[in-house]
This record gives sequence, structure tokens and C-alpha cells, in this order.
Amino acid sequence: MRILIIGSGGREHAIGWKIAQDIQRDNLFFLPGNAGTANLGHNIAGDVMDFEHIKEVCLANQVDTLFVGPENPLCDGIYDSFKADADLGHIAVIGPSKRGAQLEGSKDFAKEFMQKYNIPTARYQTFTLETLERGKAFLKELSAPYVLKADGPAAGKGVVILDSYDEAAAELEDMLKGKFGASSSKVVIEEFLSGIECSVFVLTDGKSYKILPVAKDYKRIGEGDTGLNTGGMGAISPVPFADDVFMKKVKEQIVLPTLDGIQKEEIEYKGFIFLGLIKVNDDPYVIEYNVRLGDPETEAIMLRIKSSLVALLQGVANQTLDQVTYEEEDYAAATVMLVSGGYPEAYEKGKVITEELIDSDDVVVFHAGTAVRDSEIVTNGGRVISVSAKGKSLEEVLSNAYEATDKITFEGKFYRKDLGFDL
Ligand code: AMP
Ligand code: GLY
Repeated sequence: MRILIIGSGGREHAIGWKIAQDIQRDNLFFLPGNAGTANLGHNIAGDVMDFEHIKEVCLANQVDTLFVGPENPLCDGIYDSFKADADLGHIAVIGPSKRGAQLEGSKDFAKEFMQKYNIPTARYQTFTLETLERGKAFLKELSAPYVLKADGPAAGKGVVILDSYDEAAAELEDMLKGKFGASSSKVVIEEFLSGIECSVFVLTDGKSYKILPVAKDYKRIGEGDTGLNTGGMGAISPVPFADDVFMKKVKEQIVLPTLDGIQKEEIEYKGFIFLGLIKVNDDPYVIEYNVRLGDPETEAIMLRIKSSLVALLQGVANQTLDQVTYEEEDYAAATVMLVSGGYPEAYEKGKVITEELIDSDDVVVFHAGTAVRDSEIVTNGGRVISVSAKGKSLEEVLSNAYEATDKITFEGKFYRKDLGFDL
């Protein structure tokens, strides 16, 4: 396999780390990658949305598999663009077609799909500016808190949860009048669900599937899940409350009907389905679909997949996933994200990072926002580096990870010290 991974975060570094266990450095490429991925393969400059450039890079390097890390190229149709090009027919694209990517790219599409295939999710209705008054009436039918979602992508800010009817009605009007541009020309209003969340990842070749390790991410900047939302401050896997009984419900009520729906709708889908779930009483509900792996969940779950990721991806490409063995390690894993001081608000870049050698059997470091400057590694983003660890129990894992975080220093370094506090 000669594989190009597109993206530049900790997720892509972790995917590359797992793939590099089975293929040689000269067969592994990243676009654009980061300072960490450069140690595993070849970083090639470029923009993940520049499909023509990505095609040229694939041809110039005899790439046979394209692994799409982030959602934007998928929502924009990179899968379809490759399939439509005769020169690229031999390249397997890991990810759904543009229609499949609507499961993440359009909240209205995703909710309609769930309703059609009887997949448990919050009760909802979708409104446009023409139906604003009906939207306000629907809000009255619900009770606080009110959940409003811009239909399209809004840089992670499109979900607004408000405590009073007046605020919610005003927000609905603002959104429909263009608060998030075209992304909020439709707004989904849904019932608030109260429970604890987890992330379930499914790999499918369109016919069969494997359920990968379950994880839980921590999105808020502050301890005890307080403060602003971030791209993710850490993750743990497995998730104690996602036990066998719960996972049986997830499989029967969510995974199988989702795959059945994808087949019935004739959606081409060879990639990952990320189920953002909430456990209400003892039952799973879908909060959202994503069409890629999660970040930072990937930095934890890659440590727990025992089988070869290369073999799994080949199974996806050839639609023979049912013949590939899938096994998980029986230890736990966690990842702690080190972020720039000030993040997720304004922060400085270019701080020199010093790292004592800490990669070992139990601890791996994945780069996110880093760059090389004058042969030094410097911070280049809000989320800088994640430290992933494994161990027999969650306590042991977290103690291994936290011990290792002390060995990485940069000015302004911040991280959450309470991962797993709610379990
Ligand atoms: P999303 O951008 O769809 O991931 O939503 C962001 C966050 O909003 C989710 O992770 C949940 O914590 C919360 N959320 C979204 N929908 C609901 C809902 N119906 N009930 C309760 N919380 C929700
Ligand atoms: N960790 C959540 C996400 O990747 O969207």
C-alpha cells in the first residue's frame, strides 16, 4: 500500500502512527501533515481542499489509497471527484461520497435520515425564514433548554443551547436571517436530551462493518466541563458506561439501521461513521453523525486497535471487510491535549517546544499544531500536542499520561487535569 493521509492534526498523526506499523516510511505521505508526521513519512505541502493538487500528488507518488482525515474535503466531494477522473480510478478513497458526507454536512439531512430509518434521536423540526413563525410556535411546544442547530457547517459554532423561550426565539430569527450565512438558512430545532455522551466509530466498506473502540472526549476548556468549547482537550477509551448491554442496543438500534439506510439510499460509503451518542436513562440516542474519525478520540483509540489498520483499509477498498479479523487490545488508553495559553480565544504561536524523549511502550506523543522553524519545533496552533498513554485501568492510563505531560514544555502550556472526572 502507498497511502496519502490528508489533514494536519493529532488525528492524522495517530492514523499515520498506526499505519506506519505495517508499511515502510517511503510508502507513507501526508498533506500537509505536521512536525510529528514528518518522522513517519513524507510531508507534502498543500491545502486539503485543493483536489487538483491532491490528485497530482497521488499520481506523482504512485499513491493507491487516499485517507481523508477531516470532513471538509468529504463534504465538498473529494470521493466523487476522484471517482469521476479516469486517471484515478485505481485509487481507493477512504471516506464517503458527497451524498454520504451530508450526514455530517447537513443536520436536516441527518435528522430526516434518522427519522426515516427509525434511529433514536431527539424529536425535531426544520425551519426556514418563510416558516419562522411556525418555528417559534414549535419552540413553545418544547420546554427549556432549547437546542437550535444551523443546518450547515459553522466552524463548530452552529449549535446553540438557550435557557429561555425569548432568547431561543430571537436566536432562531438571527440564524434564519443569516447569522451563519447560508449555513443557517435552515435551522433544526430539537428537544434537549439529558445524559452522558460518548463517541462510537464504525468502519464500513458499504456492505459489512467493524465497530472500533468507544471513546469519550472532553470538549470544554475548563475543569469540570466548564468554559468555552474547544476542538477537544482529551479523550479516554474504553468508556465504562458503554458496557455490553448498552453496546448491543447501539448495534441493533443505531449501527445496523444506519448501514441499512445507507444501502437503501444507494449511498456510496467506504469509510468511517462517527456516532456522537448520548445515553439517556439506559438508552442510546444519536446527537450527531460525523463522517470521519474524531479528534482527539483517534489519539486514544489507535492505541487500542490490535489488528492491522492497513489490512482493515484494504478490506474497505476491496469490499472484503467481512474477511478481515478485527481485534482490540484489552488495556485502556487516554490522550491529554496540551494547548496554547489563551486558547480557544486569542493565543500566540511560535513558542519553542522542548520534549524529553518519552515515546515508549506505554506512552506516545502525537503532534497537532506544531511546525518546524530553523530546525526547532514550535507551536503553530491552539491545540499543540497530545500525550497518549495506555495501561491496565483508567487510573493507571491517566497517571502515565499526566506524568509524561511534564516532559513537554512550551511557554503558556495548558491542559486539563481532570479527564475521566465524570466516570
Ligand atoms: P454538535 O455540534 O452537533 O456536536 O453539538 C454540540 C454539542 O451540543 C453536543 O456534543 C451536545 O453536547 C450538545 N447537544 C447537541 N444536541 C443536543 C440535544 N438534542 N440535547 C442535548 N445536548 C445537545
Ligand atoms: N471530538 C469530536 C470531533 O472530532 O468532532
